[in-house]
Amino acid sequence: MQIPRLHPDTIEEVKQRADIVDVVSEYVVLRKRGKDFVGLCPFHDEKSPSFTVSPTKQMYYCFGCQAGGNAIKFVMDLSKRSFPEVLLDLARRYQVPVQTLEPEQRQELQRQLSLREQLYEILATTAQFYQHVLRQPQGQKALQYLQSDRQFQAATIQQFGLGYAPAGWETLSRYLVDSKHYPAPLVEKAGLIKPRKEGGGYYDVFRDRLMIPIRDVQGRVIAFGGRTLTDEQPKYLNSPETELFSKGKTLFALDQAKTGIAQLDQAVVVEGYFDAIALHAAGINNAVASLGTALSLEQVRLILRYTESKQLVLNFDADQAGTNATEKAIGEIGELAYSGEVQLKILNIPDGKDADEYLHTHTTEDYQQLLTNAPLWLNWQIQQITKNRDLKQATDFQQVTQQIVKLLKNIANSDTRNYYVSHCAEILSLGDTRLIPLRVENLLTQITPSVTSSQPLATKGEWSKQKKSRSPATSSQRRTEPVEVSSIPGKHELLEQAEALLLRIYLHCPEQRQAITESLESRDLQFSLSHHRFLWQQILAEPAGIEIDLVSNLQDRYPEFPEEMGLVSHLFHLSEKSQKDDMLRTPKGSQAAIACMELVMSEKRYRHFKELWEQTDEKAEPERYEYYGRAFLAEKWRYEQLNRQRNFSIEEVLRLSD
Ligand code: UTP
Ligand code: MN
Repeated sequence: MQIPRLHPDTIEEVKQRADIVDVVSEYVVLRKRGKDFVGLCPFHDEKSPSFTVSPTKQMYYCFGCQAGGNAIKFVMDLSKRSFPEVLLDLARRYQVPVQTLEPEQRQELQRQLSLREQLYEILATTAQFYQHVLRQPQGQKALQYLQSDRQFQAATIQQFGLGYAPAGWETLSRYLVDSKHYPAPLVEKAGLIKPRKEGGGYYDVFRDRLMIPIRDVQGRVIAFGGRTLTDEQPKYLNSPETELFSKGKTLFALDQAKTGIAQLDQAVVVEGYFDAIALHAAGINNAVASLGTALSLEQVRLILRYTESKQLVLNFDADQAGTNATEKAIGEIGELAYSGEVQLKILNIPDGKDADEYLHTHTTEDYQQLLTNAPLWLNWQIQQITKNRDLKQATDFQQVTQQIVKLLKNIANSDTRNYYVSHCAEILSLGDTRLIPLRVENLLTQITPSVTSSQPLATKGEWSKQKKSRSPATSSQRRTEPVEVSSIPGKHELLEQAEALLLRIYLHCPEQRQAITESLESRDLQFSLSHHRFLWQQILAEPAGIEIDLVSNLQDRYPEFPEEMGLVSHLFHLSEKSQKDDMLRTPKGSQAAIACMELVMSEKRYRHFKELWEQTDEKAEPERYEYYGRAFLAEKWRYEQLNRQRNFSIEEVLRLSD
């Protein structure tokens, strides 16, 4: 098969997403050594590892056989396949949408490539120009601002290539077009000049501003941010989106920070250009800035490539705008955070200061201490939810509970979830530890996915009536809780019916017998009604096998056990209706019955643990208290899960068991 040429965006995207460590790990056992990984080289025979993989460089290299390259080359060499084949493979694996290239498009691409090269050049020249002007008399006031107001050393100004755009309308335009002979339309494409509305010609985009070059990861200038030195609006003027610059895909200072991020295994994201610069100046060189927009998933992925344990600290302003930006960022990367793919911490600097302001009056160590003490994002969110609330007030209590439930619902990892459920239950118990088990139970009931806890375990009509009548609010405290403790109403009847159904299927559908036995065993389930248990013992005493006439054999026990046999004899017969019912013939019926049995047993178990937990004195027997608490949490969670699968089960059981 001829593989069509791939679009460069696809190639770029695969390179971005296919992490070298990830790719190599599939073929080589890698061990961490320093910031790199080592393993036995797959390209030659060796006893001690000389094959290294660098996540920061996204490269591998073997000191033994000199094999080396990036992730794509690794797979190509190892699997002896062509570039496009490997690329398609990796695209599939990392879910990169594949775009191909038509022949006409190729020419266009060539043109674009040379266009990009020229734009890089124009921007680099411009950066130099601004830097130069900063050191001229007209740049005096800007330089003064950097040195006094911002307290930056010459080295910092140099490191970040800060400059000054002069006040005239076409200083840059004249320099680039007239002196340097760059075509004006190209300079316009670089986002530096705009055509005049009247009279022809162009004017400069940035005038009388302090200029901050924005660079890509490789350190090439792709745009500028320009800060006014007066009250002019906007405070910061940024380059428009261009061929080279896309705001949502760029992080300011990542080129400077990537090594620091890899070394410290952590990245700090701040809001402002000057916050990032001030942090670097203070020696905190793992800081990047988000360019004033909400942090995007793409930006986060870009950062995470450089940290092994994916630690990210968001240090946005503590004011309302900053809090909103933080919430927005959390929303954007929530999935990564919930799944544990990123360890997200939130740092709000005391007194609402931003990092730059803070460092004017504090030391690097002070800031590092803040980083260390920053709460994990879930704790931060819980703090936000409970901030300025009085949990003794019914409405506040209810609203806080609701928001907490919303938060806890998404936690996928069960240990994490249990931890936070306990933590929140403690908060909601307002210091009364006896209330914790009840709070935990309520939270768990509410956070189980897609369980509508107001809808009891039954076909809607009959049991929901029962439910209403049996749960009156018992105390004023209770009344403030949004949802009552869930339980299976009519569970005894349900259990009886489920067990009977299962036995019936076993007796009358020989082809399902093995599956039923296995299912009961694997779930460690027993029949709980004594006459059912009796029948099951008799069944087990019979030889197994499809051809055995089980019902007839069992009926021989009548003389020996007249009473017990009398209680189960109705199971030996099938009504005409049931005989025709497909449900009996397919595994669905038995599965439903088993699910019901399991559900009831699970409820019994979690209630048992809850009781034990409540009866244990936390202070006197802390270990026991902890153990019962955990057992209860685990069993209750399992119960809610089972309850979730109940919909079809209950109805089928009820329909089939008559
Ligand atoms: P802030 O307004 O929070 O200010 O902008 P700051 O960084 O503390 O600015 P200083 O200290 O007064 O100089 C945060 C970031 O938002 C973007 C910029 O990237 C800025 O660094 N921003 C802000 C803009 O793009 N345009 C604006 O008009 C304002
Ligand atoms: Mn600031």
